[in-house]
Amino acid sequence: MATDAGTAGTAAPRFPDGFLWGVSTSAHQIEGAADEREPSVWDAFTAGPGHIKDGSTAQVACDHYHRHAEDVALLAGLGVGAYRFSVSWPRVNSPGGLDFYDRLVDELLAAGVRPVPTLFHWDLPARLDWLERDTASRFAEYVSVVAGRLGDRVDKWITLNEPAEHTLLGHALGVHAPGRKLLFDALPVAHHQLLAHGLAVRALRAAGAAGIGIANSHGPTWAASAEPADVEAADFYDVLLNRLFAEPLLLGEYPAGLGELMPGDVRADLKIISEPLDWYGINYYAPTLVGAPEGAEIEFGGVTLPAELPFSVREIEGRPVTDFGWPVVPEGLTELLTGFRDRYGDRLPPVVITENGCSYEGLDDTDRIAYLDGHIRALHRAVEAGVDVRGYFVWSLLDNWEWAEGYARRFGLVHVDYETLERTPKASYRWYRDLLRAQGRAS
Ligand code: NOJ
Repeated sequence: MATDAGTAGTAAPRFPDGFLWGVSTSAHQIEGAADEREPSVWDAFTAGPGHIKDGSTAQVACDHYHRHAEDVALLAGLGVGAYRFSVSWPRVNSPGGLDFYDRLVDELLAAGVRPVPTLFHWDLPARLDWLERDTASRFAEYVSVVAGRLGDRVDKWITLNEPAEHTLLGHALGVHAPGRKLLFDALPVAHHQLLAHGLAVRALRAAGAAGIGIANSHGPTWAASAEPADVEAADFYDVLLNRLFAEPLLLGEYPAGLGELMPGDVRADLKIISEPLDWYGINYYAPTLVGAPEGAEIEFGGVTLPAELPFSVREIEGRPVTDFGWPVVPEGLTELLTGFRDRYGDRLPPVVITENGCSYEGLDDTDRIAYLDGHIRALHRAVEAGVDVRGYFVWSLLDNWEWAEGYARRFGLVHVDYETLERTPKASYRWYRDLLRAQGRAS
């Protein structure tokens, strides 16, 4: 294979020994084999008219369920220390489902790649509902089953992926499954997921598991101007998308009186939610520029934001954008991490970047290389500034089914031809492989 080292300039700075380099995927986005598991909320949502932009489904996706051996070989060739994948709850509920993950874990270990399973990445069994408190208990039961089967070989776990996005996009705005448009009445969905997380931490520890974390989406919120109305709107957005999901976990309390809006015995639940974590996962893509409401609907990042929201989201100007239209702002990652350290101090456990990446077309994806190079350097600046960062995972190993966007967005280091399902490593795959070699690989 050709070497693309140097395409993005000088060699990346050296990260601490033992730093964990990886790539991430999720079950619904890559596995396919939908008729070999029970339905999830995404199957029903996908069937709805106009819900998926290209009209596609994830019935086949990358067919990873049947091609996992080839994908593990790609991971081995890449030289990553770890692979973050998700366990599909609907598949575990189906015959042979857990056997699949059992085999995958063995294959990964045989290839020298550490398995890092996420226990919930949005594909809720169709008969369950996050508006119901009981779903949190059902989740903990399912987690016990998975931990009982994989726990002897897994030493790094992720409970939930991005409960903020699942609440916002799936239950407040209705652009993701299950398609509810509850706006602020979606807050119980956030609480029940956080409770599910806390109960899962307890279930994992009861099963003897260690190395427990979560993957939360975070990004700096920038006020559109210094005008009080813009600053207030940006603060509100920051509370809703960042602090609402970090502070119950790290501080054992909801920010800004939001606890009063949550259902149930919130004080008792917060004790469960704030079970200490071994590490804290952050998915970072870009900052958000927020201003006072404009009294009209806003189209942003493929989502329509209703006029009644108490904020508006603005374009960040003067930046390159990915094919998704997301601005490329590497220094936002340094700002985010130093900001977290300053705000949460020693309540913040070691951090792992559990997702970072971009969508671009093409096999010669120099834009992706530039994006990753810039963000890895920005991450190093946070390490130099004293933030305890232990790992970095690129989203994603493969091009895959990008939820409401369908197959149109290509986040992979490896191209997937959705007609033939052929995998072709891109220039960014070789670039990341060379970076890992230069780092002395990973632990
Ligand atoms: C966050 C989600 O966890 C993942 O499923 C998604 O594909 C990427 N971001 C890119 O949007």
